[in-house]
Amino acid sequence: MRRKAIITGVGHYAPEKVLSNKDLERMVDTNDEWIVSRTGIRERRILEEGKGSSYMGYQALKMILEEKDIDPEEIDLIIVATVTPDTMFPSTACRIQHMIGASNAWGFDLNGACTGYIYALATGAQFIESGAHKKVAVIGADKMSAIVDYTDRSTCVLFGDAAGAVLLEPSEEADYGILDWILHCDGSGGEYLHMLGGGSLYPASHETVDKKMHYIYQDGRTVFKFAVTKMADVSAEIVEKNNLTGNEIKFFIPHQANLRIIDAAARRMGLDDSQVVVNIDRYGNTTAATIPLALSEVYHDQKLQRGDYIVMAAFGAGFTWGSLLLRWAI
Ligand code: UT7
Repeated sequence: MRRKAIITGVGHYAPEKVLSNKDLERMVDTNDEWIVSRTGIRERRILEEGKGSSYMGYQALKMILEEKDIDPEEIDLIIVATVTPDTMFPSTACRIQHMIGASNAWGFDLNGACTGYIYALATGAQFIESGAHKKVAVIGADKMSAIVDYTDRSTCVLFGDAAGAVLLEPSEEADYGILDWILHCDGSGGEYLHMLGGGSLYPASHETVDKKMHYIYQDGRTVFKFAVTKMADVSAEIVEKNNLTGNEIKFFIPHQANLRIIDAAARRMGLDDSQVVVNIDRYGNTTAATIPLALSEVYHDQKLQRGDYIVMAAFGAGFTWGSLLLRWAI
């Protein structure tokens, strides 16, 4: 019998420090009304200096292990979706493995930008379904404040720092857990959203620093145009492909980049507001962390019941985009 990967634990971490729209008004030429009406964001969290994405990912995983009373030595694999690894190498997964004491685990980082968490969940599920592993930790962690230019009003209002995590375990029930996913990338979109400096093509130099190449660049209008159609298409497609209708979906958990993009996808799926999980107002865009952070909040608010269908969807740099369908099993 084919095994399915089910989510058996969920955790998250958001730093305490809040950066509000009012705070940003004092830093760049912007205002609360513009930010709220164009993005839906009211505030975001900022991690302190001296700590990297691994710290937040570790905290999110620790929440799961403590709640479920699981020994870290039981973890087989740690996958970390991130665009802000602590360092180029070693990987953030190796750092978290060491911090948490997962002495029997291996692990790696995965870069799918804002779609990273869906890529990572689909990847983690393969190691469960194949029978290779029994406990796979899938973490999304991004310290976006490390790569944001706080003099650029077009990007600095958008991003925040956070992490979320799930634990995947096997189930013999064919109709539960991660049921399906649709994943895409199109590298021709790379010019519209990127951070060019610090890799092998443009290694760090005085020039890369002077040209602000270690910060996020985004052509917001072009990215918006693609995101609003691609995320809606791929969300509706996974529902139809699995012979479901919008009203059978308990929760739609979209990547939180812009409330207008979320609303467009929800409308396409025929959902009402109560089915759409939105926390962009409190955290902004935390890249690979948005989806597990939102899932963890819904889970800890005790809104999930066994049998609930959940659709996740995202769009991000690459371009990358995708959706995932799961049925809650615990
Ligand atoms: O998560 C990864 C994927 N990323 C996304 O999905 C983001 C997609 N893009 C977006 O969400 C939107 O394009 C933004 C929120 C980034 C921007 O919203 P927009 O409605 O596309 O605005 P815009 O870039 O077309 O700018 C409109 C105006 C411009 O002024 P002019 O040229 O019309 O005079 C900007 O200079 O708003 C100005 N502007 C601002 N004004 C106040 C840009 N940023 C700001 C700001 N405060 N922070």
